[in-house]
Amino acid sequence: MDTPWKSSVILAPMSKGSNLPFRRLCCEFGAETTVSEMIFASALAKRNRKDLALLRRHPSEKCFGVQILTNSPDDLNDAVPIIEESGADFIDLNCGCPIDEAVSKGMGANLLDRTRRLENILERLEALCHIPFTVKLRSGYKEGHTNIAETAKMAENHRAAGLVVHGRTREQRYTGVADWNAVRTAVETVSIPVVGNGDILTWYEAEDRLKLSGACGVMIGRGALIKPWIFQEIRDKKDLNPSARERIAVYLRLTEYMLEHFGSDAHGRRTSASFMAWHFDLLTRWRFLPREEWYGASLEHPLIQTRLNGVYEGDPLDIVLAGYGKRLRLQLADLFIEGAAEKRPQNWLEEKISALAPEIVADHERRLAEKAAKKEAKAAQESLSSSGLPFCEP
Ligand SMILES: Cc1cc2nc3c(=O)[nH]c(=O)nc-3n(C[C@H](O)[C@H](O)[C@H](O)COP(=O)(O)O)c2cc1C
Repeated sequence: MDTPWKSSVILAPMSKGSNLPFRRLCCEFGAETTVSEMIFASALAKRNRKDLALLRRHPSEKCFGVQILTNSPDDLNDAVPIIEESGADFIDLNCGCPIDEAVSKGMGANLLDRTRRLENILERLEALCHIPFTVKLRSGYKEGHTNIAETAKMAENHRAAGLVVHGRTREQRYTGVADWNAVRTAVETVSIPVVGNGDILTWYEAEDRLKLSGACGVMIGRGALIKPWIFQEIRDKKDLNPSARERIAVYLRLTEYMLEHFGSDAHGRRTSASFMAWHFDLLTRWRFLPREEWYGASLEHPLIQTRLNGVYEGDPLDIVLAGYGKRLRLQLADLFIEGAAEKRPQNWLEEKISALAPEIVADHERRLAEKAAKKEAKAAQESLSSSGLPFCEP
């Protein structure tokens, strides 16, 4: 079947996350289809410079879609030609964004509740588009009102070239577990290609959810932010276990791409540092989850939602790269920016990173000691009250 995508694994549109340098990195790991951050159609229509910049694609992006957010068919009259002129391969209509700012204006997931408006927008896309358009849906607006069959059929009737289904309602936002049965419902309802989305962190979860849903592909969001090499894992059906040094090399490449994109002057460095600090929040969540050990757990609960322990022993690089906290993220971002901008050798960076480990371990030990002291105090209190003695001396 013809699909608007070039591959069965697609990097998700993510505000801030799927910036051009990050998409470029994912392409190196085998992402063949990528989507822009979401862009307001009204801002494109006004030729807002910041929004126009989001249309840029890197030459390594083989199949690139631009995602738009709108509540008005009229905004599409200007926005669609601008996107087509930019050279995008497809347009993706956002019907899933759960944030209040979008929903209160009748955009994103609100369209799942206002299907008449959704239909008007689809009609206009059908009339205007010379390139394929796809629709990214959630299972519905809220629990008890899931209408994926209705919205999927409507999109098909208006010649959408494909659908992405994220198995959560707007109300759920990113909580709970993605319901891949909603993906299956869409697959069973329409004959256009359907890609499933939600909670994929490992190649074996991707394989499993594909089987369960019958979807023709998977879209990966947070899984890629945690490990950009997930595309290679899914392609090769193999768990990758990059060493801390190998991960540093990957993160350094991302930093270089940031500086190339945003500029290496003071402003470019600041912008790149803010993006890198944001990325480190997710990159530091990486843990090795080999199939032999984790497959059973993945059937019980998506691994992306499983709380995994920090690392407080062994190679200091491993300790730091699995660390938590805003301060650490900012420190890492600054080090990587300096390393990339000043073209320092990687071992300079490794030494600086290692030097952060003792503080992380000491912090952890302090927290453990505090927890133990609290537990002890609580136990003492309980034994006092159960002994019948007054809790406080009169
Ligand atoms: C930081 C972040 C930003 C996101 N921005 C968008 C967006 O701009 N457009 C969109 O359709 N979905 C957006 N999403 C939702 C993802 O595309 C995806 O549907 C969701 O994260 C579930 O997939 P996952 O479990 O693989 O992350 C965003 C998600 C995250 C985590």
